[in-house]
Amino acid sequence: MIVELTIVGAALGVFVMVAMAVTSRQKKKAPPGPRGLPFFGKVFALDPNTIHLDFTEWKANYGDIVMTKMSGKNVLVLNSLEAIRAAFEKEDCAPYMSDRPLNFIGEKIMYGYKEVLLRRYDDEFKKLKPLMMRGLDKHGFQSAHFRKLMKEEIDHVTSKFSATNGKSADPVEILMPSFCNIIGMIFTGERVEDNHHFLKTLSNFEHYGDKMIQPQVHGVYKLFPWIRHCPCYHGQLYCKVTEIREQLYDYLVNDVKRYDANNVNCFIHEMTKEQEAGSGSEEFHLTDEHIVAMVMDLINTSVLTTKALISGFIFLMLHFPEVQAKLQKEIDSVIGEKRSPELEDMTSMPYMRACIQEVLRFQSHLPLTAPHANLTTEVDLEGYHIPQNTIIFANIFAVHHDDQLWDDPWSFCPERFLDDDGQFVSSDHPSRKNMIPFGIGRRVCVGKEMTYLRAFTYMTNLLQNFSFKMADGDELPSSDPRKLQGQNPVILPQPYKCMVTKRAS
Ligand code: HEM
Repeated sequence: MIVELTIVGAALGVFVMVAMAVTSRQKKKAPPGPRGLPFFGKVFALDPNTIHLDFTEWKANYGDIVMTKMSGKNVLVLNSLEAIRAAFEKEDCAPYMSDRPLNFIGEKIMYGYKEVLLRRYDDEFKKLKPLMMRGLDKHGFQSAHFRKLMKEEIDHVTSKFSATNGKSADPVEILMPSFCNIIGMIFTGERVEDNHHFLKTLSNFEHYGDKMIQPQVHGVYKLFPWIRHCPCYHGQLYCKVTEIREQLYDYLVNDVKRYDANNVNCFIHEMTKEQEAGSGSEEFHLTDEHIVAMVMDLINTSVLTTKALISGFIFLMLHFPEVQAKLQKEIDSVIGEKRSPELEDMTSMPYMRACIQEVLRFQSHLPLTAPHANLTTEVDLEGYHIPQNTIIFANIFAVHHDDQLWDDPWSFCPERFLDDDGQFVSSDHPSRKNMIPFGIGRRVCVGKEMTYLRAFTYMTNLLQNFSFKMADGDELPSSDPRKLQGQNPVILPQPYKCMVTKRAS
């Protein structure tokens, strides 16, 4: 009798628990949001280049967690820091919300997702990302060899600016080959001249890869993958990108990869060494395709973002000459005019550090994270039910202009990152904690530290030598970050010209 009662009791217990789980799941509702047309949802109503502004407006109507539909898919938009932290950092959500949606470029260009940016959050990702980060750290600014090449590159850029002779010029056009060269230097350990074939291949991959990644173009490949074989725009673009990929492969694997194990001074050699050491476990073998796909990732993630940041920085110097003058005063007092800036100077230059942070906040060059997805399971997020296979965007732009977090968020004000003594605020200060320009969690940007060091190196060297100002009669587009031009996935100022005059010694 006692045994039977125990069985009945246990069965009842299980029933009640299942019923409670089902009811609680039913109670969890989908986040609110605009639904749009049947199947297509909001896809025709949104411009990919300004979509972050629409998402930010939705915050006022629907709140911090918004769900919509696009081309038959659920799309989740996270509009507040709290919601983004819950999704990407808390253990009950983050591991499931850190996948990427399946995509054409990852599959067909990256040799079946043999890279980091576009692949799922799976075991291979967990091996590849640390490998990529280690290669970049060791052969970027931490390496004496790279720093020496960087000095040569900066001298080259400085002489190009000097050659403008104070005439109106587009500073970004002058700097673009340099942005390609510095990532190329990390790959190969060599600095090349502007007309070198590798630099051309690299910049071509950036250019055509950028065309392919545009949502309206990529969307067509995703829906009709066979279109890559057709004699149309999509077919031609696919041929071009794969042709450049083969040129990259050929040069990196056949020329650069030969190395002296006692003199490993670049990313490719570091990966070759890992390959020979049988990197990872038995199930994972680092192939040449992995190495080339990681290089392709790094080209596409680094060149355009550096362009957006440095172009945006110079643009703001034109708008705010008083900030430019203050930066030059700091450079003059810490470095002077005779010696070149060193990275070690950075700790003594709080105003420059504050400016870099404020440019990243104010303009938010990547206004949205790359799309995340929960491919394997449904998730409960802050009381909402998120169905499996939802595409997820974190709205960085909304966080960086949230008036609950920032005083006067639409003003450019480097002082928000300085304390009362004029020192750069510490990492636990609210201004620093509210900054997420590089995303957070498992998919955080690989180039985060490098970006600060790059911005410091370019801007300190340029402002030590030159002043930027508008030519009489020329007009500058508005500095309002809502007016920045979308070049998906980044936003940046529209092309502009300015006078670059040598500073009087
Ligand atoms: C202004 C400069 C930059 C900004 C604002 C920026 C921002 C971002 C953001 C927002 C993400 C997506 C995070 C997510 O999906 O949750 C990302 C990913 C990534 N970034 Fe950057 N980035 C910058 C520069 C760079 C540079 C210089 C490199 C390489 C040298 C780089 C490499 C990457 C890579 C490989 C990923 C993919 C990480 C992953 O999927 O796990 N980024 N970046």
